Amino acid sequence: MEAIILAGGYGTRLRPLTYSRAKPLLPIMNKPMVSYIAEQLPPEVDKVILAVNYRKDQIEQYFKNHDFGRELIVNDEPEPLGTGGATKFAQKHITGPFLVLNSDIICSLNLSKMIEYHKKHKAMATISLWPVENVSEFGVVDMGADEGSVIGFVEKPKPQDAPSNLINAGAYMLEQDILDYIPSGKLVSMEKEIFPQIIQKTNRFFGYQFEGYWIDVGRITSYLDVHKRLLSAQNLDNFFGENVQNNGVLKNTVVGDNASIANGAALDGCIVLDDAIIEEGCNLKNSVIGAHATIKQNSILDYTVAGDNESVEGTHHNELIWTQEIPKGYPKKQIGNVIGE
Ligand code: GDD
Ligand code: MG
Repeated sequence: MEAIILAGGYGTRLRPLTYSRAKPLLPIMNKPMVSYIAEQLPPEVDKVILAVNYRKDQIEQYFKNHDFGRELIVNDEPEPLGTGGATKFAQKHITGPFLVLNSDIICSLNLSKMIEYHKKHKAMATISLWPVENVSEFGVVDMGADEGSVIGFVEKPKPQDAPSNLINAGAYMLEQDILDYIPSGKLVSMEKEIFPQIIQKTNRFFGYQFEGYWIDVGRITSYLDVHKRLLSAQNLDNFFGENVQNNGVLKNTVVGDNASIANGAALDGCIVLDDAIIEEGCNLKNSVIGAHATIKQNSILDYTVAGDNESVEGTHHNELIWTQEIPKGYPKKQIGNVIGE
């Protein structure tokens, strides 16, 4: 069975961190977020299709260096085709029912169980579901009377228009025929354009709810939050990568490989990426420090993100710091499943 990992898109809501890196490679607890998906692939999957475009070389390189025990196809879109367009673009590699997985989610979903559920219901499409309070940032389902059947899907509805509190948790099991519904060679949103059609035309669209945890890592606030949750779940005060030099006072903080934190620095609720340098006397709260960035002596940061390679000094509150060139073609806002469109 093939699994398409949706690893394209610009990750605009994670800028400036995504100005210099592919979103799927952004580390969570010092490991690229896409590695969590790759490690959770069920035994049924023998081929992984990486749907990529922006900064594809970085992703390809990572998978070349890390073998997840599956045949790997790097499917390079000429331009971002959206979640549906990227799936269609993988058609030539699909040989039967297949999985499609968002790459910015950490969760306890057991894909084998979802595959079983899909077969049992003779579904055309089965999507994973998770309950949330704030539905308007997600795709929301309307459940029918039959167990698990989905009769409506609306992407990022206004709260008053949301049919339920159950959202699309970003993993799909699809029959090959689904591909016939997706036009080729253009930007297509699976969620906005294809799911509603499949529901209407086939009446065999199902939702699979699971237990455990589900964390979306698509934004800076959720990026900080996932680390706090994982630290607490593992009963850790802090987490350190390899070869870290720490002389500071840290709390709820994750530090990447080869980073250094000088005397008298205090960090609370921060993520410090590889090779970053925090100089003496800094006071950092709820902030992300990019790889190879330097935070100069006595700086004060809160709710601030310093991009990779930035050099920062002074006081910064609620800022996204990026002084380097923005990559050509990088959009000002999300282009696919935008809120409120
Ligand atoms: N190959 C490719 N090409 N991948 C893409 C593209 C593209 O043009 N655009 C986005 N992706 C990838 C992203 O990297 C991500 O893994 C996935 O497709 C979903 O895109 P996001 O941009 O992260 O969408 P979202 O977070 O706004 O909403 C989606 O995820 C929610 C759950 O987190 C939707 O699927 C919602 O319905 C869902 O609730
Ligand atoms: Mg997302």
